[in-house]
Formats: sequence, C-alpha cells, structure tokens
Amino acid sequence: MARQQLTVVNHPLVQHKLTLMRMEETPSAEFRRLLRELSMLLAYEVTRDLPLRMVDIKTPVTATKSPVIDGKKITLVSILRAGNGILDGMLELIPSARVGHIGIYRDPATLTPVEYYFKMPPDIAQRDVIVVDPMLATGNSAAAAIARIKGLKPTSIKFVCLIASPEGVDLLREEHPDVPIFTASVDEKLNDHGYIVPGLGDAGDRIYGTK
Ligand code: URA
Repeated sequence: MARQQLTVVNHPLVQHKLTLMRMEETPSAEFRRLLRELSMLLAYEVTRDLPLRMVDIKTPVTATKSPVIDGKKITLVSILRAGNGILDGMLELIPSARVGHIGIYRDPATLTPVEYYFKMPPDIAQRDVIVVDPMLATGNSAAAAIARIKGLKPTSIKFVCLIASPEGVDLLREEHPDVPIFTASVDEKLNDHGYIVPGLGDAGDRIYGTK
C-alpha cells in the first residue's frame, strides 16, 4: 500500500498565526479570523497538485493559451462542528467546491466516535475529497469519517487539520495509509482527556465562544 504522506506546512505566516491561535487570551472573533486566514494558506498547500489544462483566452493585448484547473469540482467535507471553521476559509479560496458535512462526536468516556449526521453532495463519486477538522487528536473521528466517505468511492481523499497529535497521525497512518495529511503542526502528545498538548484547547469552543 502507498506510504502516507505527512505535510507539515511550516511557512512563517502559518506558524505565526497558529501561535496567536494557541494563546488562551485570543478572543473568539480573532480566533475565527486567524482560522479563516490559516485555512486559506492550508488550502493553497493541499491543492498544489491539482491538474491543469490549457484554454484559449484573449487578453486586452493578444490571444494566448493559459492554464485553468482541470477535472471535476473538489468536495470539501467538514467534520462538525469545528471543521466548519476551516471550511469557511477554504471556500473563500475554492468557491466552486461542493460541501459535505459529517457529524461525529467523541463519547467522553470511551473517546470513540459516534456518528449523528451525514450529508454529502450526490455526485461525490469520482471527485477529489478534502476532509477538514482543526484537531487530529486520537484520530478516531477522522478515521471513522474517512471510512464512511470511502464507501462513496471518491477518486481521492486528503485530510487537513491545524494541529495533529503523534497518536492521531499514527492511527490515520494505520487505518488509511492512502490518505495524505496536511497540518500546520504535529504537537507533543495527547493528555488523559484526549486533548492535544500544547494544542489550543477545544477548537469548537474557541471558534464559537461556547466556554
Ligand atoms: N479536540 C479539540 O478541539 N482539541 C483537542 O485538543 C483535541 C480534540
């Protein structure tokens, strides 16, 4: 099986914005703004290998051939609810993308994933899918979401997060070695409550101010 690619996007702008997001005093409005900006930068990286085709155009000066993105539209899949924070930024850069949502929560006692919502565009087969969730913690939710999406037979799946734990990366590597991971950081570890250390806390709470 193909060895999984792990891309840590270490561009200075990405790292600077991530540091601001980690700080506990960063308010929700600022956190959301930074997440939107960071998501656009991650979208830039994750779409780097999109195929291009040449089209004939006319500039005000002359006729020429110029590249446009080829193939079917991308489908972005947000793992609710925190995934929606990344989705907003990515949609600004890829406005024609289709969007799916999958609702999975972690059972607080077992940390295992429970699905409560699944809505995908009807034509997801033969499309490239990008699954988004800010925090790859245990990896259980991401692995379960990817398994569900694989059932719909998309052409390819990539996974994008802001912060990954080594445990989450290992789990995805084990269960979905064919799915490349893009992240701004692989942090130190998970704590006993399944939070990433140092991390940034609960991404959903920080996006929506629910704590
Ligand atoms: N989910 C979060 O939002 N934060 C973590 O640190 C782990 C899971």
